Amino acid sequence: MARKTIRLEKAEQGLKLASAVVTVAGQRLLSAGVMLDEEKIQLLKKHGVRYIQVFEQTYDEPVDTQVFSEIIKNLGVTEAPSAAALEPPRSAKAVLPPAPPAPAAEDAQAKTERVRKKADEVRERLTEDKRKYSDKYGERYTSVSYTLGDPAPFSKSTPYAPYVDLLSLLARDMTDKLIFERKIDAETIQVLVKDIVSELSSHGSVMQLLTAAYSVSRYLLSHMVNVGLYSMRVASEMKLTQAEVTDITVGAILHDIGMVLIPVGFWTTRRELTPRARSEVQKHPELGAQLIRETPGTQEAWSLPALEHHERLDGSGYPSGKPAGKLSLASRIVQLCDVYEALTSDRSYRYAKFPDISMKHILGSPEQFDRDIAQVFCKCLGFYPEGYQVKLATGETAVVLSSNPKNVFRPVVKLLTDAAGTDVPPEAQLVLDLTNRLDLRVIEISNRRAIA
Ligand SMILES: [Fe+2]
Repeated sequence: MARKTIRLEKAEQGLKLASAVVTVAGQRLLSAGVMLDEEKIQLLKKHGVRYIQVFEQTYDEPVDTQVFSEIIKNLGVTEAPSAAALEPPRSAKAVLPPAPPAPAAEDAQAKTERVRKKADEVRERLTEDKRKYSDKYGERYTSVSYTLGDPAPFSKSTPYAPYVDLLSLLARDMTDKLIFERKIDAETIQVLVKDIVSELSSHGSVMQLLTAAYSVSRYLLSHMVNVGLYSMRVASEMKLTQAEVTDITVGAILHDIGMVLIPVGFWTTRRELTPRARSEVQKHPELGAQLIRETPGTQEAWSLPALEHHERLDGSGYPSGKPAGKLSLASRIVQLCDVYEALTSDRSYRYAKFPDISMKHILGSPEQFDRDIAQVFCKCLGFYPEGYQVKLATGETAVVLSSNPKNVFRPVVKLLTDAAGTDVPPEAQLVLDLTNRLDLRVIEISNRRAIA
């Protein structure tokens, strides 16, 4: 793995030391291979350390690049331009990004209005329940509420916002009902989620649906909703029935509900988990599945992703080490959506990884994640999702406007800077479809969202 020397003020949590840090007096402060966290960075600052050597990449697990290349081939796309690539002039006419499909024109507004009203109803009910649970359960409710976070209104103004809003509100409603009442109105949930699925599942741009970048709610609820949205999109793409997609979406939303039953102190830590904390946290799949199963009205299918989302195809996961043949389809979908969502989100102990690195991890670990599902996932989401700033092989930077399901490595981009790093004025920012520009290719994501 490549190493680089950086100034200490550039050090970030999650980076791994490539060599030991030793003071002038010969005192070893940290050993090679140690992952930096806030405490360790402060320790180095305290000792006046100015430079450290770190590994350039910090995958949680090494990626088998050979396996990755094979998968890329199976995706039917090429990462690099072919030798026979055409080299059209740089003044090639700018193309417009393909517009995302809009909801059917007929009664779209009425439908959106109905969903908005439903969301308002659930929001009101949640406010009432909040009061009720607070009075009845006191601190226990405050703690659960804090752990999950409140659903934040989806701020991006797309016609789909009310649907995502409703899904987040339902997610919080479901978790509260399961935990505090041990009952659930399954029929209403199925009807509403089916409605949401029929509207959102064929939507071309998963990124527009995601709440993570916009939500101000705390981590757990937005993680559960995002995994629900990813899983819904993948299941729809796999041409499952609407009822199956609905059940997988509900199961995906509930997959981490068991975490609410683990004391927060065990898992919201900046440090590596202690063995005791780890064994407590690893109980969450069984606790969550048990809670869902024991609640009248729930479906068996809803509890499987909760139970199996930390299992791995090679039997290396937990709680049971179940191998591939014994894992449900829903669980195999949720497993990789869960890992991708977790990798691409900030955590208390590390910063988010970029989507290309995270996707590479999923695609490059076929012994753990279902290869076919991973490919569908990559095609749905793209390797370079829209809104991210990318570096081109020419040294220019661009922002991804839309990804291309036929070739995930060749999105539609808009140039932001030239090779020298000088900003391109807005009126000169070319929009380029990289499927038509084989002289250009993306090397990597270089920044988080560049456009709102
Ligand atoms: Fe989990």
